[in-house]
Amino acid sequence: MCSELTFICTTDVLADPGSYGFDVDHCGETVEGFLVRRDGEYHAYRNSCPHTGSPLDWVEHQFLDMDGELIQCAVHDARFEIESGECVMGPCPGESLERLEISVQGENIYLRC
Ligand code: FES
Repeated sequence: MCSELTFICTTDVLADPGSYGFDVDHCGETVEGFLVRRDGEYHAYRNSCPHTGSPLDWVEHQFLDMDGELIQCAVHDARFEIESGECVMGPCPGESLERLEISVQGENIYLRC
């Protein structure tokens, strides 16, 4: 099993709550994703909305709603739970964002397989 780690960013680029979009080469694939931090926990998802497959953000690094409670797709306003990635409002209820595996080591956040 591959155990490659690819550096994404340092933790200080994320507010709490906050989000951060990234685009990295990992295991021979370009991965477009985003990180969400809330209550000190980090979550990562592929930047592809289950509704149409388009990126969720129109504003760079902005993936949360105004309250910082849910992930928001800017295209048709779907909302997703931060912890599970499940759509709870909008045009794709019950569908989910694709989770990405990450490793937080000190102040560094890595994508892992
Ligand atoms: S593309 Fe995300 S809600 Fe339609």
